[in-house]
Amino acid sequence: MPQLLQILCLCFSLVFQIQAREAKEYDKDVQYDESKLPPYDLPPLLTTSSGQSVETPEAWMQQRRPEILSLFANLIYGRVPAPAKPIEVSYEVVLEDEGFMDGMATRKDVKIHLENAKGRMSMHFLVFVPNNAQKPVPAFLKHSFNNTQSDDFDASSTRPGFLKNGWPLGELFKRGYGFCAVYQQDLVRHNEVEFLHSIHKLFYPERQSFPKSHEWGVLSACAWGASRAMDYLETDPAIDHSRIAIMGHSKMGKATLWTAAQDERFALAISAQSGCAGAALWRRKSGETLKKMVTRFPYWLCRNAWKFVEQEDDLPVDQHMLLACIAPRPVYVHSSTDDTWADSRGEYLSAYHASEVYQLLGKKALESSKLPEVGKPIIKSHVGYHIREGGHSIEMYDWQRFMDFADYHLQAK
Ligand code: GCU
Repeated sequence: MPQLLQILCLCFSLVFQIQAREAKEYDKDVQYDESKLPPYDLPPLLTTSSGQSVETPEAWMQQRRPEILSLFANLIYGRVPAPAKPIEVSYEVVLEDEGFMDGMATRKDVKIHLENAKGRMSMHFLVFVPNNAQKPVPAFLKHSFNNTQSDDFDASSTRPGFLKNGWPLGELFKRGYGFCAVYQQDLVRHNEVEFLHSIHKLFYPERQSFPKSHEWGVLSACAWGASRAMDYLETDPAIDHSRIAIMGHSKMGKATLWTAAQDERFALAISAQSGCAGAALWRRKSGETLKKMVTRFPYWLCRNAWKFVEQEDDLPVDQHMLLACIAPRPVYVHSSTDDTWADSRGEYLSAYHASEVYQLLGKKALESSKLPEVGKPIIKSHVGYHIREGGHSIEMYDWQRFMDFADYHLQAK
């Protein structure tokens, strides 16, 4: 027995050593020094690919925006192909608890079933609605890392006070919001072999087993799932589906921006520390780069994106254009001082450059390229922003700013 224990310990220590070495290798050559970043020119937002200048809201909405979305679909996140056979959707309410948090809210667990001849997938969707609401409530829809089928979320996160990395349900209910969550792994797994068991399987025609180079990876599949959750919300009378704020942190912040850019039913978007492939500009190459991303997470983006590794200047898009596709709907970007991997300055600059489109559409947006100071959130603007002291997480301070931004834009409606 002691021998077996020794062997086990040895194995664990070997695994840790290998992981530590890989992490070291991976973190090599990361550039954080502002003075060493490459010079770059961003692709113009307001000139079409055929060189026409975009001068009116109509030209933006009808011509340039669709052109940009198509570039993001084909080159960055991957296009969702037509399904092999039409997908039938059904909703099943598997639990309804009106006494949630001592009667403060109703918790509903909904299963969204997606089915065709190629298979069946079910997405578990959580919906919480405050019980004192007199009319349908606006809500936050979170692209979540939490497994919505477990009760993990409720032990710590239901306290009206707070929790780290959790959901401030009490605070949301007090401010009159519902809260909904989708769990990424219900639909999609993390490599192309596992895609055979993910939502992708419903879409592959005969003899296709992997996405084509311009077809969807993980982030696009997450975005597609959030839109299916929105389909459900359109049928739920307790929720005002015209006032849904979509949000997500980190990887899920990337998925959030791609969801909101494409699906105009989302009224507002919040990117929390989404970094590379989220709000941060590719061309700065600060912190995580395209190369680092496709090396460590080869299936998050589509394979076409790999072609631009160390060729970012050839990309006909940069991430400010993704944020601009959300206009005129409000967008909020959150960074923090120590989250250098996500390139806070690059996240802010993206929001700043996207502001050109908001202004064209007659909305108040960011006016300065200077990174705001900690403690000075920008709320009363269609492009909002704050940077917090600290690292890669969503703290209560961040949630409160998200709610302030939503109060300003959604509660008055
Ligand atoms: C990694 C990855 C980031 C991502 C983060 C997360 O750090 O490099 O791009 O945002 O994981 O999702 O937590």
